[in-house]
Amino acid sequence: MSKPATMRLDRFLSETTPLTRSLAKRALKSGEVLLNGKPIKQSATQIDPDEDVIMWQDEPLELVGMRYIMLHKPLEVECSARRGLYTRAIDLIDVPRVERLQPVGRLDVDTTGLLLMTDDGQWLHRITSPKRRCDKVYRATLADPWEGNTASWAIERMAEGLLLEDDDRPTLPATLDMLSPVEAELAISEGRYHQVKRMFGALGNRVATLHRRAIGPLALDEKLAPGEWRELTAEEIALF
Ligand code: URA
Repeated sequence: MSKPATMRLDRFLSETTPLTRSLAKRALKSGEVLLNGKPIKQSATQIDPDEDVIMWQDEPLELVGMRYIMLHKPLEVECSARRGLYTRAIDLIDVPRVERLQPVGRLDVDTTGLLLMTDDGQWLHRITSPKRRCDKVYRATLADPWEGNTASWAIERMAEGLLLEDDDRPTLPATLDMLSPVEAELAISEGRYHQVKRMFGALGNRVATLHRRAIGPLALDEKLAPGEWRELTAEEIALF
């Protein structure tokens, strides 16, 4: 993303430090911020992020553009940014201001595979908005084998849509491919809570392992081992 030519100093601080806009104003007032080597107190000062040197807590501050990242999410990693029992997805990614990254559609702690992370809210919305009907493709290992007529029945039921417990409307049509009696690939265009597990559960089966292989036209890069990540290319970003 292109950076603005000039911007207000308090906004620059709120985008380059953990300070909120009001805390940035306070830091400015108390003389903590240096502009080209001199303390500056006026929040409304226009600065040029490419030319001016702004220092806070002895560090020069730099604007980062929008980031678009693909992570191969391993088991026992959670998408939430709150600290809890598990390692967080953002703990695996080494970029400045990592806490600004949002997961593009969460995965359960026991689900592996493609997790996109970004700080571009509009891009995130384009992928997750139910109106866009962007397919998410999951590989599931099933606890009970489905063969012959049972497999055909499940394929039809997934395509018709299922009314899941506690939901007030059926799921949108989903495409189920049985790769073997216990290996299934399911493409869904929504992102309801535990949706894949609940859909198989509604048909009397249980998901033993779950892996997201693709989101829309973007597949998980096979070169990424679990826990590894890379930035998306410009072509990949433009897919959505
Ligand atoms: N559906 C699930 O049940 N779990 C996930 O992690 C993603 C989709």
